Amino acid sequence: MIKFIEVEDTLPLRNTLLREGKLTLDECRFPTDSIESNFHLGYYIKGELVCISSFAPQKYGEFTGTGYQLRGMATVEKYRGQGIGNQLINFALIYLRGQKANYVWCNARKRAIKFYQNVGFEVISPEFEVPGIGPHYAMYVKLQ
Ligand SMILES: CC(C)(COP(=O)(O)OP(=O)(O)OC[C@H]1O[C@@H](n2cnc3c(N)ncnc32)[C@H](O)[C@@H]1OP(=O)(O)O)[C@@H](O)C(=O)NCCC(=O)NCCS
Repeated sequence: MIKFIEVEDTLPLRNTLLREGKLTLDECRFPTDSIESNFHLGYYIKGELVCISSFAPQKYGEFTGTGYQLRGMATVEKYRGQGIGNQLINFALIYLRGQKANYVWCNARKRAIKFYQNVGFEVISPEFEVPGIGPHYAMYVKLQ
């Protein structure tokens, strides 16, 4: 079941799945978490939060219209490869289309490129390094 959740709900999974459990929960907050109209989605299985993603209005480069940045996308390891992340992003894309957003973008880890391509994103930047995390590409999907 997919639900809108609070940023606080996302912090433990952000830490364990995206930051190797090395940070405090407060350090797992993104600056974009305090932007108005940001939102967080969670996928629950039998009451357990197993997949998260966060979205905030943010422009990318020269793109026109309302852009949203996707951040903090992660699925608990034992639930990966079952289409849960795919469903969560598709839910967000449909919701944001309804909100009249024009595009969604993200800085994707190299290993997750195919996952984002599966839901319509395309690569829009050369490879770049995020210190301590690894190679990334900016990716984008047009909504309308
Ligand atoms: C990237 C990540 C969020 C994907 O989550 P997920 O829930 O496993 O995603 P999905 O199951 O929808 O897709 C993963 C794979 O399962 C496959 N899959 C299996 N069954 C599927 C189904 N029913 N529907 C869609 N895809 C399915 C997909 O083809 C996909 O393979 P691919 O990425 O090689 O193309 C997850 O691997 C993760 O948390 N990784 C660590 C953190 C991370 O890197 N986050 C991204 C930061 S940019």
